[in-house]
Amino acid sequence: MTFSIKLLELLKQARGNWVSGESISAMMGISRSAVWKQVRKLREEGYVVEGSPKKGYTLREAPDRLLPGEIQDGLGTRVFGKGEILHFRETSSTNTIAKDLALRGAAEGLLVLAEEQSGGRGRKGREWHSPPDKGIYFSMLLRPRIAPAEAPKMSLLTAVAVAEAMISAAGVNARIKWPNDVLIGGKKVAGILAEVGAEMDEVQYLVIGIGVNVNNTGFPPELRQQATSLHLETGNPFPRLILLKEILARFEALYEEATRKGFNPCMARWRELSDMLGRNIRVEVPGLVHEGLAEGIGQDGSLLLRDGEGKVHKIVAGDVTFIGGIYGQQKPVG
Ligand code: BTN
Repeated sequence: MTFSIKLLELLKQARGNWVSGESISAMMGISRSAVWKQVRKLREEGYVVEGSPKKGYTLREAPDRLLPGEIQDGLGTRVFGKGEILHFRETSSTNTIAKDLALRGAAEGLLVLAEEQSGGRGRKGREWHSPPDKGIYFSMLLRPRIAPAEAPKMSLLTAVAVAEAMISAAGVNARIKWPNDVLIGGKKVAGILAEVGAEMDEVQYLVIGIGVNVNNTGFPPELRQQATSLHLETGNPFPRLILLKEILARFEALYEEATRKGFNPCMARWRELSDMLGRNIRVEVPGLVHEGLAEGIGQDGSLLLRDGEGKVHKIVAGDVTFIGGIYGQQKPVG
């Protein structure tokens, strides 16, 4: 825990009362001038810390930022968000940074967050719209003991965590579209980009990047048809910090469960949250388009699609649309 996070914790525990510089310095084991430096650091991050030569310091206001001290405050996880957290006012892509740190040996549980991304990356080389302070843009580092073939299930697991967090924290009807898009009312509200570093038989690291549209009140014209945000869906802004903490807690619980019992319980939940199974879909894979019935999810997380001739295709990656309209407004085929 850094000194500024420790100081923040002390000020929060005082619940708006004054804490003398002397007692802070004793509790933190640092000099009075070092305490002052930490106060300055918190102020630079946007905290309103009032100081008085006689009374000491008191916390008046916390900024609406996804700052490490705020994330760790009352976070009910053991690993994710408990270790190193890197927070950027602006960066190109949190996934790129997390991958770089993974290669340098960073530990599982690392979080990289940004308030804005200039080069936010989506699946298939697409761009992820990441305007300042509107969404949650973060990446987590995992070091699971699994074979590379198991890795896609981790992104399905993440989609379950994000959808469940949205349902429980914001009361919205979030659904999953294979493989790992989270939708409300047929429009995309969150996306997941999982990037793996592996040897032939073992995953060395997995970076899972999550982008959630939270307080966006509009989207660029090219996204308007297919994107939505929690604000647009509920009519109100939503505290990003609350949602982020819920995602971390749900993710960790599912991850631990998968480590102990395998992926089956989580895949069952995925099926419940998906509104795609049993419907007619079109899946675009490089150079090919499949149409048919979404029949199920295979053991490895692949999509099982039954075509018009009754043949079942196992699809490991692709883009799904409903036949006859945008996702969620499909018409049956034939
Ligand atoms: C998709 O649906 O195409 C995946 C979108 C993933 C976006 C997130 S935002 C945080 C992390 N950093 C990135 O550059 N991308 C992911």
